[in-house]
Amino acid sequence: MAGKLIDGKAAAKEIREEIKKEVDEVKAQGVVPGLAVILVGDDPASHTYVRNKEKGCKEVGIHSEIYKYPAAISEAELLDKIRELNEDKRIHGILVQLPLPGHISESKVIDTISPEKDVDGFHPVNVGKMVIGKEGFLPCTPYGIMKLLEREQIDLQGKRAVVIGRSNIVGKPAGLLLLQRNATVTYCHSKTEDLSYHTKQADIIIAAVGKAKFLKAEDVKEGAVIVDVGMNRDENGKLCGDVDFESVREKASFITPVPGGVGPMTITMLLYNTVQSAKRMVKDRISN
Ligand code: GUN
Repeated sequence: MAGKLIDGKAAAKEIREEIKKEVDEVKAQGVVPGLAVILVGDDPASHTYVRNKEKGCKEVGIHSEIYKYPAAISEAELLDKIRELNEDKRIHGILVQLPLPGHISESKVIDTISPEKDVDGFHPVNVGKMVIGKEGFLPCTPYGIMKLLEREQIDLQGKRAVVIGRSNIVGKPAGLLLLQRNATVTYCHSKTEDLSYHTKQADIIIAAVGKAKFLKAEDVKEGAVIVDVGMNRDENGKLCGDVDFESVREKASFITPVPGGVGPMTITMLLYNTVQSAKRMVKDRISN
Protein backbone atom coordinates (compact mmCIF):
# COMPACT_ATOMS: atom_id res chain seq x y z
CA MET A 1 0.00 0.00 0.00
CA ALA A 2 1.25 3.49 -0.82
CA GLY A 3 2.67 5.47 2.08
CA LYS A 4 0.84 8.34 3.70
CA LEU A 5 1.61 11.76 2.26
CA ILE A 6 2.96 14.25 4.77
CA ASP A 7 1.20 17.46 3.78
CA GLY A 8 3.68 20.25 4.46
CA LYS A 9 1.43 22.86 2.92
CA ALA A 10 -1.41 22.10 5.34
CA ALA A 11 0.99 21.92 8.29
CA ALA A 12 2.57 25.25 7.33
CA LYS A 13 -0.86 26.87 7.04
CA GLU A 14 -1.87 25.72 10.51
CA ILE A 15 1.40 26.76 12.11
CA ARG A 16 1.25 30.17 10.39
CA GLU A 17 -2.18 30.73 11.93
CA GLU A 18 -0.66 30.06 15.37
CA ILE A 19 2.24 32.39 14.54
CA LYS A 20 -0.19 35.12 13.53
CA LYS A 21 -1.83 34.90 16.97
CA GLU A 22 1.57 35.21 18.63
CA VAL A 23 2.39 38.21 16.44
CA ASP A 24 -0.86 39.86 17.57
CA GLU A 25 0.03 39.20 21.23
CA VAL A 26 3.45 40.81 20.81
CA LYS A 27 1.86 43.74 18.97
CA ALA A 28 -0.58 44.20 21.87
CA GLN A 29 2.52 44.81 24.01
CA GLY A 30 3.61 47.58 21.70
CA VAL A 31 6.19 45.71 19.61
CA VAL A 32 5.93 44.81 15.93
CA PRO A 33 8.15 41.79 15.15
CA GLY A 34 10.61 42.80 12.43
CA LEU A 35 12.74 40.79 10.01
CA ALA A 36 15.55 42.24 7.87
CA VAL A 37 16.57 40.27 4.80
CA ILE A 38 19.75 41.04 2.87
CA LEU A 39 19.98 39.89 -0.73
CA VAL A 40 23.20 40.26 -2.71
CA GLY A 41 23.42 39.82 -6.49
CA ASP A 42 20.87 38.66 -9.03
CA ASP A 43 20.53 34.92 -8.59
CA PRO A 44 16.91 34.27 -9.69
CA ALA A 45 16.34 31.45 -7.17
CA SER A 46 17.52 33.67 -4.30
CA HIS A 47 15.21 36.46 -5.48
CA THR A 48 12.27 34.03 -5.48
CA TYR A 49 13.13 32.76 -1.98
CA VAL A 50 13.36 36.32 -0.66
CA ARG A 51 10.08 37.30 -2.29
CA ASN A 52 8.40 34.33 -0.60
CA LYS A 53 9.92 35.30 2.75
CA GLU A 54 8.53 38.80 2.34
CA LYS A 55 5.11 37.36 1.43
CA GLY A 56 5.19 35.05 4.48
CA CYS A 57 5.97 37.99 6.77
CA LYS A 58 3.07 39.99 5.39
CA GLU A 59 0.71 37.05 5.83
CA VAL A 60 1.37 36.79 9.60
CA GLY A 61 1.86 40.51 10.28
CA ILE A 62 5.65 40.61 10.65
CA HIS A 63 7.31 43.83 9.49
CA SER A 64 9.95 43.03 6.85
CA GLU A 65 12.72 45.08 5.28
CA ILE A 66 14.54 43.81 2.21
CA TYR A 67 17.99 45.22 1.42
CA LYS A 68 19.11 44.45 -2.12
CA TYR A 69 22.74 44.99 -3.14
CA PRO A 70 24.60 44.46 -6.39
CA ALA A 71 26.99 41.47 -6.51
CA ALA A 72 29.91 43.92 -6.49
CA ILE A 73 29.18 45.22 -2.96
CA SER A 74 32.31 45.04 -0.79
CA GLU A 75 32.47 42.69 2.15
CA ALA A 76 33.16 45.66 4.46
CA GLU A 77 30.02 47.48 3.37
CA LEU A 78 27.90 44.37 3.87
CA LEU A 79 29.34 43.76 7.34
CA ASP A 80 28.63 47.41 8.26
CA LYS A 81 24.99 46.99 7.24
CA ILE A 82 24.71 43.88 9.43
CA ARG A 83 26.24 45.74 12.41
CA GLU A 84 23.74 48.55 11.89
CA LEU A 85 20.84 46.05 11.88
CA ASN A 86 22.24 44.36 15.00
CA GLU A 87 21.66 47.67 16.81
CA ASP A 88 18.27 48.42 15.23
CA LYS A 89 15.58 48.02 17.91
CA ARG A 90 12.82 47.49 15.32
CA ILE A 91 14.56 44.42 13.93
CA HIS A 92 14.34 41.06 15.72
CA GLY A 93 15.65 38.81 12.99
CA ILE A 94 18.42 39.24 10.41
CA LEU A 95 18.85 36.93 7.45
CA VAL A 96 21.47 37.14 4.73
CA GLN A 97 20.36 35.07 1.75
CA LEU A 98 22.99 32.53 0.72
CA PRO A 99 24.93 31.86 -1.43
CA LEU A 100 27.00 35.06 -1.56
CA PRO A 101 29.38 36.16 -4.33
CA GLY A 102 32.84 34.57 -4.09
CA HIS A 103 34.65 37.67 -2.79
CA ILE A 104 32.49 37.79 0.35
CA SER A 105 33.22 35.36 3.17
CA GLU A 106 30.01 33.60 4.20
CA SER A 107 31.48 32.67 7.52
CA LYS A 108 32.48 36.30 8.30
CA VAL A 109 28.97 37.40 7.39
CA ILE A 110 27.33 34.78 9.62
CA ASP A 111 29.73 35.53 12.50
CA THR A 112 28.80 39.24 12.31
CA ILE A 113 25.05 38.66 12.77
CA SER A 114 24.13 39.00 16.44
CA PRO A 115 23.32 35.48 17.76
CA GLU A 116 20.19 37.04 19.36
CA LYS A 117 18.91 37.99 15.88
CA ASP A 118 20.21 34.98 13.96
CA VAL A 119 16.81 33.57 12.96
CA ASP A 120 18.51 31.27 10.40
CA GLY A 121 20.31 29.50 13.26
CA PHE A 122 23.61 29.63 11.37
CA HIS A 123 25.78 31.55 13.88
CA PRO A 124 28.36 29.33 15.67
CA VAL A 125 26.79 30.28 19.03
CA ASN A 126 23.40 28.90 17.93
CA VAL A 127 24.99 25.88 16.25
CA GLY A 128 26.87 25.16 19.50
CA LYS A 129 23.69 25.49 21.54
CA MET A 130 21.94 23.06 19.22
CA VAL A 131 24.77 20.53 19.58
CA ILE A 132 24.51 20.52 23.38
CA GLY A 133 20.70 20.79 23.42
CA LYS A 134 20.49 24.33 24.82
CA GLU A 135 17.79 26.72 23.70
CA GLY A 136 18.75 28.89 20.73
CA PHE A 137 17.59 29.44 17.17
CA LEU A 138 17.27 26.21 15.21
CA PRO A 139 17.92 26.25 11.44
CA CYS A 140 14.61 26.51 9.61
CA THR A 141 14.62 23.50 7.26
CA PRO A 142 15.69 20.87 9.83
CA TYR A 143 13.37 22.46 12.39
CA GLY A 144 10.52 22.24 9.87
CA ILE A 145 11.32 18.56 9.26
CA MET A 146 11.13 17.84 13.00
CA LYS A 147 7.77 19.63 13.21
CA LEU A 148 6.40 17.49 10.37
CA LEU A 149 7.58 14.25 12.03
CA GLU A 150 6.12 15.43 15.34
CA ARG A 151 2.74 16.23 13.81
CA GLU A 152 2.54 12.73 12.31
CA GLN A 153 3.54 11.34 15.73
CA ILE A 154 6.36 9.40 14.17
CA ASP A 155 8.31 7.64 16.89
CA LEU A 156 12.03 8.36 16.60
CA GLN A 157 13.32 6.77 19.78
CA GLY A 158 15.87 4.05 19.06
CA LYS A 159 15.03 4.16 15.34
CA ARG A 160 17.67 4.05 12.64
CA ALA A 161 17.81 7.39 10.85
CA VAL A 162 19.95 7.93 7.79
CA VAL A 163 20.68 11.48 6.68
CA ILE A 164 21.98 11.78 3.11
CA GLY A 165 23.89 15.04 2.79
CA ARG A 166 26.02 16.89 5.32
CA SER A 167 25.53 20.58 4.55
CA ASN A 168 25.61 23.05 7.44
CA ILE A 169 22.14 24.28 6.46
CA VAL A 170 20.27 20.97 6.27
CA GLY A 171 22.03 17.60 6.61
CA LYS A 172 24.28 18.17 9.60
CA PRO A 173 21.70 19.91 11.79
CA ALA A 174 18.93 17.48 10.75
CA GLY A 175 21.05 14.59 12.06
CA LEU A 176 21.70 16.42 15.34
CA LEU A 177 18.00 17.10 15.90
CA LEU A 178 17.17 13.44 15.21
CA LEU A 179 19.89 12.40 17.66
CA GLN A 180 18.35 14.68 20.27
CA ARG A 181 15.12 12.74 19.84
CA ASN A 182 17.05 9.52 20.53
CA ALA A 183 17.29 8.22 16.98
CA THR A 184 20.39 6.23 15.99
CA VAL A 185 21.81 8.50 13.32
CA THR A 186 24.04 7.69 10.35
CA TYR A 187 25.31 10.41 8.03
CA CYS A 188 25.85 9.45 4.41
CA HIS A 189 27.49 11.75 1.87
CA SER A 190 29.31 11.88 -1.46
CA LYS A 191 32.23 9.81 -0.09
CA THR A 192 30.09 7.12 1.54
CA GLU A 193 30.82 3.61 0.31
CA ASP A 194 27.80 1.48 -0.48
CA LEU A 195 25.18 4.11 0.33
CA SER A 196 22.38 1.65 -0.42
CA TYR A 197 23.62 -0.67 2.38
CA HIS A 198 22.90 2.13 4.87
CA THR A 199 19.64 3.42 3.43
CA LYS A 200 18.17 -0.12 3.20
CA GLN A 201 18.44 -0.44 6.98
CA ALA A 202 16.90 2.93 7.76
CA ASP A 203 13.58 3.44 9.50
CA ILE A 204 13.79 7.14 8.58
CA ILE A 205 15.62 8.68 5.64
CA ILE A 206 16.27 12.39 5.21
CA ALA A 207 17.33 12.98 1.61
CA ALA A 208 19.22 16.26 1.24
CA VAL A 209 21.48 15.48 -1.69
CA GLY A 210 20.48 17.93 -4.40
CA LYS A 211 20.18 15.29 -7.14
CA ALA A 212 16.90 14.65 -8.95
CA LYS A 213 15.25 11.30 -8.04
CA PHE A 214 18.48 10.07 -6.44
CA LEU A 215 16.88 7.68 -3.93
CA LYS A 216 15.21 4.69 -5.60
CA ALA A 217 12.74 2.10 -4.32
CA GLU A 218 15.44 -0.60 -4.16
CA ASP A 219 17.42 1.58 -1.70
CA VAL A 220 14.57 1.71 0.78
CA LYS A 221 13.21 -0.66 3.42
CA GLU A 222 9.51 -1.56 3.48
CA GLY A 223 7.72 0.82 5.88
CA ALA A 224 10.43 3.50 6.02
CA VAL A 225 9.61 7.16 6.65
CA ILE A 226 10.95 9.29 3.78
CA VAL A 227 11.67 13.01 4.06
CA ASP A 228 12.67 14.66 0.80
CA VAL A 229 14.48 17.99 1.07
CA GLY A 230 15.42 18.14 -2.62
CA MET A 231 14.40 20.92 -4.99
CA ASN A 232 15.45 19.84 -8.46
CA ARG A 233 14.23 19.85 -12.03
CA ASP A 234 13.71 16.52 -13.77
CA GLU A 235 14.51 15.76 -17.42
CA ASN A 236 11.28 17.53 -18.45
CA GLY A 237 12.01 20.63 -16.37
CA LYS A 238 9.41 19.64 -13.77
CA LEU A 239 10.09 20.35 -10.10
CA CYS A 240 11.11 17.19 -8.25
CA GLY A 241 12.89 16.07 -5.11
CA ASP A 242 15.87 13.83 -4.31
CA VAL A 243 13.52 10.86 -4.09
CA ASP A 244 12.03 8.85 -6.95
CA PHE A 245 8.64 9.64 -5.49
CA GLU A 246 6.21 7.32 -7.31
CA SER A 247 8.17 4.11 -6.74
CA VAL A 248 9.50 4.93 -3.25
CA ARG A 249 6.00 5.84 -2.06
CA GLU A 250 4.90 2.22 -2.65
CA LYS A 251 7.34 1.03 0.02
CA ALA A 252 7.21 3.96 2.44
CA SER A 253 4.93 4.29 5.46
CA PHE A 254 5.14 8.11 5.24
CA ILE A 255 6.62 10.34 2.56
CA THR A 256 6.92 14.08 1.93
CA PRO A 257 6.09 15.22 -1.62
CA VAL A 258 8.00 17.82 -3.65
CA PRO A 259 6.60 20.39 -3.91
CA GLY A 260 4.35 20.69 -0.86
CA GLY A 261 6.39 18.77 1.72
CA VAL A 262 9.39 20.25 3.51
CA GLY A 263 9.49 23.41 1.37
CA PRO A 264 6.54 25.32 2.89
CA MET A 265 7.87 24.55 6.40
CA THR A 266 11.20 26.36 5.93
CA ILE A 267 9.75 29.87 5.70
CA THR A 268 7.19 28.99 8.36
CA MET A 269 9.96 28.22 10.85
CA LEU A 270 11.73 31.45 9.88
CA LEU A 271 8.56 33.35 10.78
CA TYR A 272 8.33 31.32 13.98
CA ASN A 273 11.94 32.12 14.95
CA THR A 274 11.38 35.81 14.25
CA VAL A 275 8.35 35.98 16.55
CA GLN A 276 10.18 34.05 19.28
CA SER A 277 13.01 36.57 19.01
CA ALA A 278 10.60 39.50 19.34
CA LYS A 279 8.89 37.81 22.32
CA ARG A 280 12.25 37.28 24.01
CA MET A 281 13.14 40.94 23.54
CA VAL A 282 9.78 42.06 24.98
CA LYS A 283 10.30 39.76 27.98
CA ASP A 284 13.86 41.05 28.55
CA ARG A 285 12.60 44.63 28.34
CA ILE A 286 9.98 43.94 31.00
CA SER A 287 12.33 42.10 33.34
CA ASN A 288 15.16 44.65 33.09
N1 GUN B 1 19.90 29.72 0.94
C1 GUN B 1 19.29 28.50 0.82
N2 GUN B 1 18.65 28.19 1.96
C2 GUN B 1 18.85 29.21 2.81
C3 GUN B 1 18.42 29.47 4.15
O1 GUN B 1 17.74 28.67 4.79
N3 GUN B 1 18.82 30.65 4.67
C4 GUN B 1 19.60 31.53 4.00
N4 GUN B 1 19.97 32.64 4.61
N5 GUN B 1 20.01 31.33 2.76
C5 GUN B 1 19.64 30.17 2.18
